[in-house]
Amino acid sequence: MDRLIIFDTTLRDGEQSPGASMTREEKLRIAKQLERLRVDVIEAGFAAASNGDFEAVRAIATVVKDSTICSLSRANDKDIARAAEALAPARSRRIHTFIATSALHMEKKLRMAPEQVLEQARLAVRFARQFTDDVEFSTEDGSRSDPDFLCRVLEAVIAEGATTVNIPDTVGYAVPAQYGQLLLSLRERVANSHRAVWSVHCHNDLGMAVANSLSGVLNGVRQIECTINGLGERAGNTALEEVVMALRTRRDVFGVDTRIDTTQIVATSRLVSTITGFPVQPNKAVVGANAFAHASGIHQDGVLKARQTYEIMRAEDVGWSANRIVLGKLSGRNAFKQRVQELGIPVESETELQSAFSRFKDLADRKAEIFDEDIQALFSDEEIGHHNEHFRLLSMSQRSQTGGQPSAEVLFQVGATQERATAEGNGPVDAVFKAIESRVASGSELLLYSVNAITTGTESQGEVTVRLSRGGRIVNGVGADPDIVAASAKAYISALNKLYTTSERLNPQTSMAP
Ligand code: KIV
Ligand code: ZN
Repeated sequence: MDRLIIFDTTLRDGEQSPGASMTREEKLRIAKQLERLRVDVIEAGFAAASNGDFEAVRAIATVVKDSTICSLSRANDKDIARAAEALAPARSRRIHTFIATSALHMEKKLRMAPEQVLEQARLAVRFARQFTDDVEFSTEDGSRSDPDFLCRVLEAVIAEGATTVNIPDTVGYAVPAQYGQLLLSLRERVANSHRAVWSVHCHNDLGMAVANSLSGVLNGVRQIECTINGLGERAGNTALEEVVMALRTRRDVFGVDTRIDTTQIVATSRLVSTITGFPVQPNKAVVGANAFAHASGIHQDGVLKARQTYEIMRAEDVGWSANRIVLGKLSGRNAFKQRVQELGIPVESETELQSAFSRFKDLADRKAEIFDEDIQALFSDEEIGHHNEHFRLLSMSQRSQTGGQPSAEVLFQVGATQERATAEGNGPVDAVFKAIESRVASGSELLLYSVNAITTGTESQGEVTVRLSRGGRIVNGVGADPDIVAASAKAYISALNKLYTTSERLNPQTSMAP
């Protein structure tokens, strides 16, 4: 069976989602989980974009051993040399260089003639080959580029030693049949096409990123670029979990295999969601809370008689546990530890485990059944970083009654001092946020507030996402608690911590010109 390369760009393109910027430590944590998921290539960042991004690529290149580490770079010597420097410690490294090839981008954005673009592409690949023999070249806005010009550029870069050529659908404009046809004809027309792996990189503006990528596979492509939960610029990228499970479930159609350990998919999805503050919609394929839930009587009856009647994949194959009620308040430390290990949650030290266990005990006092999702939420960055953060929620109370004005009182830590604040609001959540703001005066704008039940039933913990913006910076905070007003307070405080953090939050391309 043909092998298909899974190239994950959660840490580069995914990070370009508004508010999804991550610190170096957060990127490192995701990179280690991607290694556990067994992705072939991790695009760790854009080394030339900032010192912070350079350090993140370098840290990942130092630690991750089982995946190739890649850095993006524009098609110029300075970017490429910086990428090479950041990648130097990697056991296996790739430089990914790109330039736009559509008439629109060349004329309006680059202000370059096609011949200049062709020459720059050729020189960039030649230069990159001095540092590694694994060089990828991308024709940005490839799906809207003139096929004749694409053929010339691709033939030239392969001749210079590009080992992977990627034809992105940068603006999510392609449709599957036409995109597949373009890829097939390029492969047929480029004389040296057999010397490179062909790759797709699709955006989801029209909801067709996965379909377009799979159409590429049917037309000879052997690398898919994708992100966890489909994170990415604007409407996002091809979702890794969806293409991987489509390829696996429909091997009969695609005839290719990946190296991915699919049982790590759900854990990876949750990690990325909690770190970036982008919740996964319940009806999201493969990783959504409802992806394997059968609500209608006819479906439930069918599944009980023979699960294949309505299930095309097994939930446990993607990392959902079969028995989701796991622990309660009488469960001991060993049972907790075992479940944490079974869920594949990385625990750095005994102290981290012990502090998660005491958070688990607190939660079990308030919630009779603890589900796997609750355990995973205990290990979210907000929970782990809780005790070192500048702002910390100590307690809160709120009052609301039909026809009355809701009010809240919040006690929280700001550095070394405790602040008590009260406020009235439209509703209890509004009152809590106003109370916190009355002391912090962050002056930030609330861009997004969303609540999501982590599991089912009214006993579920609410997971709240808060997105704040201030001075051009956008951050997401996440908080989980059985009390959704408390979850909201935690999420607001988590977002404030990110706004005020001293560790650089990376977001490579936002400040970059072509
Ligand atoms: O969407 C795009 O074209 C990209 C390239 C840099 C690969 O992200
Ligand atoms: Zn992209």
